[in-house]
Amino acid sequence: MKFFVDTADTAEIADLAATGMVDGVTTNPSLIKKSGRDIMEVTKEICGLTEGPVSAEVVALDHETMMKEAEVLRKIADNVCIKVPLTIDGLKTCKALTGEGTMVNVTLCFSANQALLAAKAGASFISPFVGRHDDNGLDGMTLIEDIRLIYDNYAFDTEILVASIRHPIHVLESARIGADVATMPPAVIRNLFKHVLTDKGIEGFLKDWADTGQNIG
Ligand code: E4P
Repeated sequence: MKFFVDTADTAEIADLAATGMVDGVTTNPSLIKKSGRDIMEVTKEICGLTEGPVSAEVVALDHETMMKEAEVLRKIADNVCIKVPLTIDGLKTCKALTGEGTMVNVTLCFSANQALLAAKAGASFISPFVGRHDDNGLDGMTLIEDIRLIYDNYAFDTEILVASIRHPIHVLESARIGADVATMPPAVIRNLFKHVLTDKGIEGFLKDWADTGQNIG
């Protein structure tokens, strides 16, 4: 399973990339706002921090303007993946862009039928939002299971990119189901490394090692 970082914070991306765990990055207008930076400038910098896909989102609602925005964004770097919303115009844009060889991430997916439409439109990635699903009393992971089943039934190439991840259990469940990608806020990736017994084990080993009075090297 690939790990993407869901942030426009370049310091976080660079730090996490050094762990070898970062296979790509996702951004959205809210994350660009949070970064306080210019979308073109920050996206270019992010594209230099990973060789993987970097999702940059259009903000127009109509197909024609989405295409114009995508034209601007995809010139930033070869690894830009254009993010479009799951609307009729978004999917028209998806079909046109993927037909030209541009990667497209269809975002704001909240149903398996929407995911089916995105796959038929040739999406490179579908982004079902599990956290926002859970927030509304629905089961986000059931949505991922349904999409996995449907995509496997018809051998769609579209990758399931689990989005709106809030905690490590979302990552574990995504891996069990066989999702292709999990995009996570930096804090969730950092949490994956942690276990209280790992910390306790290190503490015990270091205490015993100090008692030996030895050094390595
Ligand atoms: C990623 O592509 C999404 O934009 C993001 O995961 C949304 O997460 P949120 O629901 O925490 O805003």
